[in-house]
Amino acid sequence: MASAQDTSHLDQEKQHAARAAVQWVRDGMLVGLGTGSTAAHFITQLGEKVRAGELRIQGTATSLASENLARQVGIPLVEPRRGLRFDLTVDGADELDPQLNLIKGGGGALLREKIIATASDYMLVVADSSKAVAQLGKFPLPLEVVPFALPWVLDAVADLGGNPVLRINRQDPSKQAHSDQGNLLVDCHFGQLNDVEKLAGQLIVIPGIVEHGLFLGIAKAALVVRHDQIEVIRP
Ligand code: 5RP
Repeated sequence: MASAQDTSHLDQEKQHAARAAVQWVRDGMLVGLGTGSTAAHFITQLGEKVRAGELRIQGTATSLASENLARQVGIPLVEPRRGLRFDLTVDGADELDPQLNLIKGGGGALLREKIIATASDYMLVVADSSKAVAQLGKFPLPLEVVPFALPWVLDAVADLGGNPVLRINRQDPSKQAHSDQGNLLVDCHFGQLNDVEKLAGQLIVIPGIVEHGLFLGIAKAALVVRHDQIEVIRP
């Protein structure tokens, strides 16, 4: 488990990555707003520029938490509609490999995050140094699952070797965690993922799995901060 010192050090890296990502935003852009602590730093810092009149942008959030934060910091929001495309989406990741394949969904927002990232011309990942790995799989792979389908999804994931664990609500451990859509979240421990494409294909055809947290070929660049150095990774 990370010590408090590690956590604050990683939080500084997250803030640094978020600050750098704000430089990628241009006046007039439509911006996808990610979810999680790194994305929250980005939204907060972007809001400062908007309130100062330095940037006129609009955004759509990938979760209710990010939507509330965006409102608080003064970012004008647009609702989903046909034809809506984002110039840039900035979001965090739980893990990213050198090809920019990602595991996402640690914050439970993987479905909306994938919808917005896929509706974007450019997805930029912001991450602290702990997220960059040689191979995905240490972080358990999140799934969003329709509640009725849960027992069969657990069986199917176990058959694939994924050791599925139903996510518990952190605020109230007597309850299950739910996504913003009211679905359940299941964390799957596959170990090192040797064939991410194959696994993604196997998971998405299981009835009741609404989405999995593998983002393959979606991110175009990542800003990874190690101490005070920024590394720009492109696939
Ligand atoms: C939420 C996500 C987040 O991007 C991911 O969990 C990283 O979060 P953080 O920036 O707090 O480390 O996928 O569903």
